[in-house]
Amino acid sequence: MTLRTGTASTPSTATARHALPRADGVAKASGTARYTADRTQPGVRHAVLVTAAVPAGRIAAMDTAEAEQAPGVVTVLSHRNAPPLQPVTAGMYPHGLLPLQDDRVRYEGEPVAVVVADQLDQALAAAERVAVRYDRQPAPTTLDDALADAYRPTPLPRWGPADTSTGDLHQGLAAASTVVEGHYTTASRHHSAMEPAATLADFEDGRLTLHDASQGVFNVRTVVACALGMAVEDVRVLSPFTGGGFGSKGYTWPHEIIAAMTARHLGGAVLLTLTRAQSFTSHGYQPETRQSVTLGATADGRLTALRHTSVSPTSRYGEYVEMAATCSRTAYACPAITTTHRVAPVATILPTPMRAPHEGPGMFALESAMDELAHELGIDPLELRLRNHADTDPTSGKPFSSKELRACYEAGARRFGWHDRPPAPRSLRDGHELVGWGMAGATMNQFRFPAAARIRLATDVGVLVEAGTQEIGTGTYTVLAQVAADTLGCPAGLVRVRLGDTRLPQTGMTAGSSTTLSVGSAVRAACRNLLTRLVALASGEETAEEGARLADGALRRAGAVPLPLHELMARHGLAEVTAEGTWSPEDDASSLHTFGCVFAEVAVDEDLCVPRVRRVVGAYSAGRIINPLTARSQMTGGITWGIGQALLEQSVTDATLGRFVSKDLAGYLVPVNADVPDLDVVFVDEYDDQASTIGARGIGELGAVGVSAAIANAVFHATGIRPRALPITPESLLVPRP
Ligand code: MOS
Repeated sequence: MTLRTGTASTPSTATARHALPRADGVAKASGTARYTADRTQPGVRHAVLVTAAVPAGRIAAMDTAEAEQAPGVVTVLSHRNAPPLQPVTAGMYPHGLLPLQDDRVRYEGEPVAVVVADQLDQALAAAERVAVRYDRQPAPTTLDDALADAYRPTPLPRWGPADTSTGDLHQGLAAASTVVEGHYTTASRHHSAMEPAATLADFEDGRLTLHDASQGVFNVRTVVACALGMAVEDVRVLSPFTGGGFGSKGYTWPHEIIAAMTARHLGGAVLLTLTRAQSFTSHGYQPETRQSVTLGATADGRLTALRHTSVSPTSRYGEYVEMAATCSRTAYACPAITTTHRVAPVATILPTPMRAPHEGPGMFALESAMDELAHELGIDPLELRLRNHADTDPTSGKPFSSKELRACYEAGARRFGWHDRPPAPRSLRDGHELVGWGMAGATMNQFRFPAAARIRLATDVGVLVEAGTQEIGTGTYTVLAQVAADTLGCPAGLVRVRLGDTRLPQTGMTAGSSTTLSVGSAVRAACRNLLTRLVALASGEETAEEGARLADGALRRAGAVPLPLHELMARHGLAEVTAEGTWSPEDDASSLHTFGCVFAEVAVDEDLCVPRVRRVVGAYSAGRIINPLTARSQMTGGITWGIGQALLEQSVTDATLGRFVSKDLAGYLVPVNADVPDLDVVFVDEYDDQASTIGARGIGELGAVGVSAAIANAVFHATGIRPRALPITPESLLVPRP
């Protein structure tokens, strides 16, 4: 049985590719969308964390008496009196840390106590009065301190081993007429979502309900149930809106367990909101990387050898690997590719994925090195990339599911005017600003997760799509409505969407740019099952095609559930018809990646040495674009992240104190409007039926890739100075004038 399917040449129907404004846009812009910390309910108590002031050691003494006697305080829990927790043996809780269970301190910022009071200000004031004395123990607090203990990390699912080798590197280097080698560094960074993480935990009649700022409600349910020794059926997690996560709300973290534990301990509801400062030490960070890239090439620019190595810090109690060199496994055709990763344990919280993990830092190094090679060989940087285009995955040998990178190069270069670029550095000038043009490629490994969705057709509500997945700012409410409308052949305005609840059909985390393609494919399956059910209801209709036609015609009449269908349902005594659909990625024969390229113009004031981005063009190959408006906003958001990575963002560690120096948005700089020029985004027309049944791949992270390299390459073109460390600071461009 086949229902209508979209294909590359004949994209399905009316609602596909429509630039529909966000269904939740007005609610968000007007402040009526309720985020976790906005939730108030009678009797809710407020919890505030007290966190460790040293990076390693033990709690020698703790005096909570003053805090306990402070106005409004209900309780102070610490390792001395907190209820016992069970080891987390299921779900994504890679560090395994059970909070408030012992006197050990593993990182600065680790929770050592939680103060609960009737009012938030009372809890904040009392938390200041918890007196803790530490026995600080020596521990490496910087990557330099820890390098001697660097080790090869365990292989990661989906990423493969830490080290790979294809072909013969020495032979490849021997065959090269030119070899370039560069050492590159990227800084530790923090996600800095606008919404601080928060959990509202409510324990009543043996059941726990959590409202949580999360990228994965099902994972929170699993981890919290496990830690509290509860059945997952007795835990419900809701997250209808998450105010940005960028990876920080992907894994479950100790504060979520603390909120749940405290609510169960006291009974009733407890709201725990991280302070901005705590958000720098409570849910991971992107670890700095030190990378080296060696490229060998023939005189006409064909790569003969590629070696990419990376070392990054991990924590001392759990392992996270920034797989920065993996991009080199697939980016270019090359007969000899070697990649290695090492991690060094530092006394920090466990690092974690941050928007465009792995490729984000990795492509800075690879694409800077490609620019160095192009300069060395006297070949245009775009031409060099074309000469090394990988038609198939050079490491696995598999074909790519779909790859329109050549079209990206062409469209991006045309929009930018790249072909007018004079090759020599320092050849463009505007007043006393040096101007430079740079470009870089972008790619992301494509994540996919199994997903389920339900569709309800009811005489009172119209069409309702339900899936447990959460909206983290990407437009999921809107896009899933479009997928449903597209499959049913009805206007998207007829479709409502419910998300963010573990009582709804199970989906994966909102991570790895996987949600639209994974949950969208499940929604599509649910819609097709619904059409099949309608066929079964409609007497005389024997094929799915006829059912589809029937439903299609019926649903097209806008306004409400249209009459013929209503009558059909009434005849069968039904107020609603529901269907579920599931989708799982197949272990397929192709290599799944997204692609793109970025062109940037920067200006560097000759006296002040401040690099400013003037314009960016990004062109992307990411499968079918369901909604050009929300998709464009993902890419401009990603490019803005790239500008931050290139020029502003760094979390510096104070080696002596063993803590991040700046824990606020005054000291940790992210781009503001004045830093972000007009951004031009192009999607090439594509339909990837191997990636998903809706033709889509992922976009949320791709936009953040390649931007920093394009900017660094533009800075080189402007100044003749090669930036090899991010962020690119004015002082690094301060050299004697030629
Ligand atoms: Mo993302 S960094 O996969 O949430």
